[in-house]
Order: sequence, then structure tokens, then C-alpha cells
Amino acid sequence: MTRAEEAHSIAAMRELARRRLPRSIFDFFEGGAEDEASLRENVASFARLRLAPHILVDVASVDTTTTLLGRPVTLPLAIAPTGGAGFGRIGSDVAIARAAAAAGIPYTLSTSATASIERIAREAPGRLWFQAYMLQDKPLLAALIERAYAAGFEALMVTVDLPVGGKRERDIVNRMSYPFRFSRSHFAQFAARPQWLLELARYGIPMVENLAGLDPLATPTSDAASSVGRSYDSSFNWGRLAVIRDSWRRPLIVKGVLRPDDAGRLAAIGVDAIVVSNHGGRQLDGTIAPISALPAIVAAVAGRAEVWVDGGVRRGSDILKARALGAGAVLIGRPTLYGAFAGGRVGAARAIAILADELVRTMRLCGVPTLDQINGDLVVCPGETSILTENANARPRASHCAAPSA
Ligand code: FNR
Repeated sequence: MTRAEEAHSIAAMRELARRRLPRSIFDFFEGGAEDEASLRENVASFARLRLAPHILVDVASVDTTTTLLGRPVTLPLAIAPTGGAGFGRIGSDVAIARAAAAAGIPYTLSTSATASIERIAREAPGRLWFQAYMLQDKPLLAALIERAYAAGFEALMVTVDLPVGGKRERDIVNRMSYPFRFSRSHFAQFAARPQWLLELARYGIPMVENLAGLDPLATPTSDAASSVGRSYDSSFNWGRLAVIRDSWRRPLIVKGVLRPDDAGRLAAIGVDAIVVSNHGGRQLDGTIAPISALPAIVAAVAGRAEVWVDGGVRRGSDILKARALGAGAVLIGRPTLYGAFAGGRVGAARAIAILADELVRTMRLCGVPTLDQINGDLVVCPGETSILTENANARPRASHCAAPSA
């Protein structure tokens, strides 16, 4: 058994990944924008929510199955798109996609992944979604979307919180900017992580395969940049989204929504699912945490589209909290990256299994044998105990969840 297989929590898996990677590489995956306030708040907001469990319910058998986009999943969980994963460990995109397929949950391939659309479809068949960035190069964007369609990807996810690249200061300090240049400080760090270095020497620097041969994201190392702003189209707007909606003939997901008015407008134009997200704290710093933004967005969407949330999910209980606040599912980015970096496909599978096991345990301890029985009354926001006496099924208001604990 590998150490990754034995990891007992996402935090333990993170530690295994941290020990295997050079610091500048780990920082690229771990870091957030500017002061990293959003990054911290994502995790802290889940931690602030308290559970009010039911007792004396038969929880001998627990059912975590549900549907996403009308098709069954074993867990209310999907893998979020993450670029550059191959820099942490060669083959991480395929490893995570295979682990997701084996676990019965969807996998989202990033535009800037280190495996191509076709490779993922070939090597990791399962429920596959393709995430598109708003690239300046419109023919390139259209070609990527067409390739995803041809390769049988089930859904298109358009990420809308990136008109420019966020300012990730760990990458600036670590000189992880585009074009990537090895400096003396990198070599010292790399030498301290021989396993990682040997792999790189053996297989070569990973490519951003979807963009191979194209400037500027095509360079092998470019995704490791925090400052790649020039490829994103800052002029992308509602009109361009409508064009994509009209041309894509399968389910459309929009990711990076934090406001109820925007979410309501997306539902009105016929988007199938909305991901409440702040990009894992990597774009605009100082945003509201997605879990705090969720209840108002669920209310605004009013069942017209599926609403999911990502950012800061590190425990199975976080999945239960998200369901309690109205999310159909959560997406995870870093947890499966840690798993893949620590132990390849086995590590990624272990990360999913940890969250699944914790979710089942939490459902039992909360007296809710099915996902549909997870109501708003299970979660109490700081200073909001009255919710239990006033209306057992009321969902906490967003403002309560956003408030720091007293
Ligand atoms: C991301 N994220 C991201 N999102 C996206 O739409 N396209 C992308 O290419 C990437 N790339 C990316 C790389 C890395 C290293 C990270 C950590 C994140 C954001 C991602 O999809 C998701 O929103 C967050 O990762 C969710 O937060 P957690 O689960 O990492 O806390």
C-alpha cells in the first residue's frame, strides 16, 4: 500500500503532496490571488457553519446517489477543471479523470490542462465535461468547443470569472511567470525533490496539449504563470455567451458566479447549470465565499437551472453543508490534485474515497439517510440558533453565513 492510499484526510493528502513537490510548484497549485483572503475565506466559511443533527433515525443504510444534468451520479460531486496538473506529477489529468470515472462522478477537463481533449476521451472514458476559457482567439475557442463535441464530451463549462488573470503573488515571488525561466533558486528547490525531478527528466516538461503549437499558451510551461492575461478576452460579454449557448447543442454550465442577479439572468437565458465559485480564490481577492453566496443564488435561480458550488471543500461534512444550503452538488479542485500528486490515480481515487466516506459518516451522524433529507435546518450559521425554533426547514440567509463567528 502506498502512503497516498493510507491518507486519512484531505489535509494528510495535501501534506504528502507538499513534501513531494518543489516549493514553487506546490505554491502554484496551492496559492490564491493577492492577500489570499478569498482562499482562506473559502475554507473558513465552511468551518463556521455548525450542524444540528437529528437523533433516533434509522441510518443503517445511507444513499448518496443523485443526478447531475439529469444523469445518475454516486455522489453529489464532480471534479473541477484545473490547468497545469501535469507539472505536479506527469499524467495527473488522466489519473484524476480515471479516478472520477471509477467513482461514478463527472470530470471536467480544463482548456489549459496538460492532456488534450482527445487523450482524455481515449484514456479515461467516463462522464466528461470540457471547460472553455474566453480566449481572444475566437477561431481557436470555436475549434476547441467543436473538438470537445466530436470527442463526445457531455457538457460545456464556460468559466466567466477570468476577464484577466488574477495576481497570484506566490508565483511572482517564485518567478513562475510566462515565459517560465529556470533560475538558480529553482534548481536548488528542484534538487530537494528528486522524485519529482527524475520524473520530469524522464518524461519531459508537460505540454498544454489542447493549445499545442499555438501562441502564447502553447508553450510547455505557460500555464504555470499567474500573469498570463493576454490570451483571455476581456471583452467577452453576455452576447458572446449567448452565441455559445446557441451553437452548443448539449448541456451548458457557467462557472464563476457569485451574484444572485447574474445567476437569475443565466437561468433566464437557458443555462443548464451554474457553478457558484470564486475560482478557488485565484482570481479576484476579497470576494464573498461561494458557500456564503449560495443561498441567495439558489433563491434567485428558483429551480430553473442546477446550482452547484466549489471552493474550500475539504471534508465530507462540507458536501452535506452545501446540500443543506441548496447546492445540488459540489466541485473539488485541490483535493484531487493533492491526491494525484501524492499517488497518481490511486491517490486521486483515495481523495474521492475520503470525501465519500466522510459524507456517509456525516449523514449517519446527522440522521439523514438520503440526500433529499438534508434540509436547511441541519446547518446553523454563527449566532443563528433561532432558525431551529422559528422554522425547521428555513434555509439560513446568505448574510448570516458570511458573518465571521463571534
Ligand atoms: C483552478 N481552477 C480553474 N478553473 C477553471 O475554470 N479553469 C482552469 O483551468 C482552472 N485551473 C485551476 C488550476 C489550479 C491549480 C487550481 C487550484 C484551480 C479553479 C477550479 O476549477 C475550482 O474553481 C477551484 O479549484 C475550487 O476550489 P478548491 O476545491 O481548490 O478549494
